[in-house]
Amino acid sequence: MITLHALTKIFPGGVHALDAIELTIADGEFFALLGPSGCGKTTLLRTIAGLETPTRGTVRIDGKDVTALPPGERDVAMVFQDYAIFPHMDVTANIAYPLRIRKVPRAERTAKAAGVAARLSLTELLHRRPAELSGGQQQRVALARAIACHPAAFLFDEPLSNLDARLRLEARTFLKRLQRELAVTTVFVTHDQAEALALADRIAVMSDGRMIQVATPAEIFHRPATTFVAAFIGSTPMNLLPAHATPGGLHVAGATLPLPGGVTPGDHLTYGVRPEYMTLSPAERPDAFPGAVTVLENLGTHTLVTLETPGALIQTVVPEGHEPPLGTPVWATPHRALLYRGDTLLTTR
Ligand SMILES: Nc1ncnc2c1ncn2[C@@H]1O[C@H](COP(=O)(O)OP(=O)(O)O)[C@@H](O)[C@H]1O
Ligand SMILES: [Mg+2]
Repeated sequence: MITLHALTKIFPGGVHALDAIELTIADGEFFALLGPSGCGKTTLLRTIAGLETPTRGTVRIDGKDVTALPPGERDVAMVFQDYAIFPHMDVTANIAYPLRIRKVPRAERTAKAAGVAARLSLTELLHRRPAELSGGQQQRVALARAIACHPAAFLFDEPLSNLDARLRLEARTFLKRLQRELAVTTVFVTHDQAEALALADRIAVMSDGRMIQVATPAEIFHRPATTFVAAFIGSTPMNLLPAHATPGGLHVAGATLPLPGGVTPGDHLTYGVRPEYMTLSPAERPDAFPGAVTVLENLGTHTLVTLETPGALIQTVVPEGHEPPLGTPVWATPHRALLYRGDTLLTTR
């Protein structure tokens, strides 16, 4: 278990990289820190690892206050974005290094290194040195080294970001399965929302050194707490449309929708609907967005359709082969939507 209390990091230049973070990560949990570049993910991970000293606040690992302890006494294994493996050691020696430090006998650590290497498709490379490996292979060696030493927690800083797309998916699945098997508490930093959704038990969405929402992937996906989270999550971004409440209903992009509870005529709101939660129809409906098809983009199994509606562009997806022709009028009916007042989630429907 990792417990952070009032954790704050102000860098000498005055940047508030972490702003009073409160967080408990459960034993065995796979926890993702997700957010745009510069939001404080790496700083938070480095502070947990002991590579940064917080300005204020505490870090506890398994109940023990480690805030003042050096990295080597925290029993965590970190894999960095810019992986640091030893250039003068071959792959086996690199993976086995933490075991050597712990005085594990040579035969045992070599066997262990070979076992972990096999699961990361590194078997052929065991006798090579880092200079003879691609960036992705070096990254896998760094991953293997962290796994080999069975720490109380894994701290991963975008460990898959240098892998090519296919290997990245393989490594992701592998990592999730392995984390389940080992049941080691894992903090995983990524700026890739798909990676966070796929891997994590819970996700913290960060912005400007703060945690905007901490929740399960399903909750983050279906009930993003703010418009920032809503815009950040999803492979095609959520449509966020200005909405105006009147006694006759909620007016959004040319549609008139039933007024949800808690909404007062006169309110100006933001209506959010994901591209996946609309159906297109050639027939006019008052509760659908009227639009003209302006762009069609091939997504493989689906097509992304951009509609020009009164006051907004709306994107939706249809199965391949069901695209309406360019320029035709269509009506997009929302099924599942969210309503925000200011930045904050008001209601879902
Ligand atoms: N050593 C440092 N000195 C000063 N500012 C830093 C330092 N490291 C990071 N920062 C700043 O702190 C903020 C958070 O950085 P970082 O944790 O690296 O973000 P992320 O990993 O989410 O991209 C950024 O504004 C960054 O410029
Ligand atoms: Mg970073």
